[in-house]
Amino acid sequence: MKKTVRDLTDAELRGKRALVRTDFNVPMDDGRITDDTRIRAALPTLQFLLEKGARPVVLSHLGRPKGKPNEKYSLQPVAKRLAELMGIKVGFVETTDTDEATKASHDLPAGEILLLENTRFLGGEETNDPRLARALAELGDFFVNDAFGAAHRAHASTAGVNAHLRPAVAGLLMEKELAYLGNALSNPQRPFVAVLGGSKISGKIDVIESLLPKVDALLIGGAMACTFYRALGLETGKSLVEEDRVDMAADILDKAGTRLILPHDAMVAPGLDSAASARSVGRDGIGTHEAMLDIGPGTSESYARAIASARTVLWNGPMGVFETPPFDRGTRAIALAMADATTKGATTIVGGGDSAAAVAHEGLSDSMSHVSTGGGASLEFLEGKPLPGVEALDEKAES
Ligand code: 3PG
Repeated sequence: MKKTVRDLTDAELRGKRALVRTDFNVPMDDGRITDDTRIRAALPTLQFLLEKGARPVVLSHLGRPKGKPNEKYSLQPVAKRLAELMGIKVGFVETTDTDEATKASHDLPAGEILLLENTRFLGGEETNDPRLARALAELGDFFVNDAFGAAHRAHASTAGVNAHLRPAVAGLLMEKELAYLGNALSNPQRPFVAVLGGSKISGKIDVIESLLPKVDALLIGGAMACTFYRALGLETGKSLVEEDRVDMAADILDKAGTRLILPHDAMVAPGLDSAASARSVGRDGIGTHEAMLDIGPGTSESYARAIASARTVLWNGPMGVFETPPFDRGTRAIALAMADATTKGATTIVGGGDSAAAVAHEGLSDSMSHVSTGGGASLEFLEGKPLPGVEALDEKAES
């Protein structure tokens, strides 16, 4: 069990500079933030620190600027949004000179926040250069990692800085993410149903193998289903099939037995631009000129029934091309079934990335027990891989 900000004493917090790594990697369009979920998700930790009299000095990455400053990836708009959401002054340090940033951190008055420019403008960030980690450690008196979304990256600001700065503890968002995802894996209330979708089986093989022994049912959707169809010898037409994964899909089907469930019908069309010709077919009815673009209505119903009977539901990856109607129906059916299950007391968890976007698209984010802020990070966690940003934190003393 990792230590969290809540385990720190008043003496460790009051007046101290809290170096907080957040994941403010938010979608932007022409300098405008199009979804501030990740900023909102960090507020409880920042509020907690301020209430305890600590002075938060905040680090984040944004995009992939490849180790040099690039205005397109500046965190300046995030500083503005954070100030609006917190209702307090948020200073912004534009420079990538860590000595200047350290000076600004010492000058930070109580009751304010300091946000530093994009950590990925710094050369040694992604290589986890120990010199940079040491320089970053000068920015605080203790370290808080609240960046669950970046916890799978072994970078200087996520997994290097803690070697030079203790205590190193989890923030409240990190704690919540680890609790929901961790309990689902190690101690789920049963029946435990997982729903996996998305276009490619290749990115999900490790998740499937890690989840299969733990779940009561694993429901498959998305174009990924077509690689399994091919392994069963079914016609898949123009659907996305990963030819080099067909043998692997066959192996998984052999091992999984009845716990792995494939869609029994599909919404197909000649292409995304010919939605008017969309039709539902049994899984053995996909035409040679058609592609599967969503699960079919019969599958939506049976998956919704499986979700309704579950006590724990974990979902990662859309069921179809949810951005393009009518191929959004399967994804919507899963989101609605999960929202309903939540009201009946089930624990419902949505992985980050596309599935979180799909739930937001349906306006159902608040109807889930937990929507993860981590895309790649939640996948790696579900694969059972250790996350470097979490490993680096202090262990809680056994009581
Ligand atoms: C994410 O958006 O998944 C995280 O912020 C990590 O970003 P990255 O994939 O660029 O490391």
